[in-house]
Amino acid sequence: MTMPDYEVEAARYDESRGGQPRARAAATAIETLLPAGPVLDVAVGTGIVAAAMARPVIGVDLSSAMLGHASRRLPGRVARADARSLPVASDSVSAVTAIWLLHLMPDSEAVVREVARVLRRGGVFVCTVDKRAAHRLAEGNPALPGARDERSRVEALGARYGLAVSGEGSFVGYGQDYEPVFPLLALTKKQ
Ligand SMILES: C[S@@+](CC[C@H](N)C(=O)[O-])C[C@H]1O[C@@H](n2cnc3c(N)ncnc32)[C@H](O)[C@@H]1O
Repeated sequence: MTMPDYEVEAARYDESRGGQPRARAAATAIETLLPAGPVLDVAVGTGIVAAAMARPVIGVDLSSAMLGHASRRLPGRVARADARSLPVASDSVSAVTAIWLLHLMPDSEAVVREVARVLRRGGVFVCTVDKRAAHRLAEGNPALPGARDERSRVEALGARYGLAVSGEGSFVGYGQDYEPVFPLLALTKKQ
């Protein structure tokens, strides 16, 4: 899949991706998989999911336009950064999220490797997997193999960088066509 131009998408992103109902559903499901405490949200986008979480969130994203919205929701807590090169010390973060990112990344391995670097031992990474598959299943079509965020691929990448599967969840894409159920995967950095 070609990555949308989020500098353009930003203006209509929230309304076209389910708005607050989708964000609240995602935030609730993510929270059940995370340890207590703050979280680093990689690809925070407009901050609509991060702001729905009941904990401090620091967000990074590549798109200035998306960050323009996020900075209003999370004042002083967002920065422009690449998920593949985070401005964060190694072994320093207890929780990282990446919602609707890996399916966009031709090099999703670079994201998983970087998340593994910044997580402290016992820290948890929660990400979406199988996003396109969720849309296809909701439409009544079979999932297609080979997606960048295919669960088996993300699990294998996690294993390569010391992250073991520790949980799973899902959230309903309210406001999306056919309201897909988007899977979440939790990976914990080995002690
Ligand atoms: C589908 S949006 C998801 C936003 C948010 N997580 C959500 O669930 O609403 C994907 C986001 O990933 C960001 N992005 C794409 N590539 C990135 C990268 N290499 N590093 C950081 N953010 C990136 C885009 O700018 C966009 O904001």
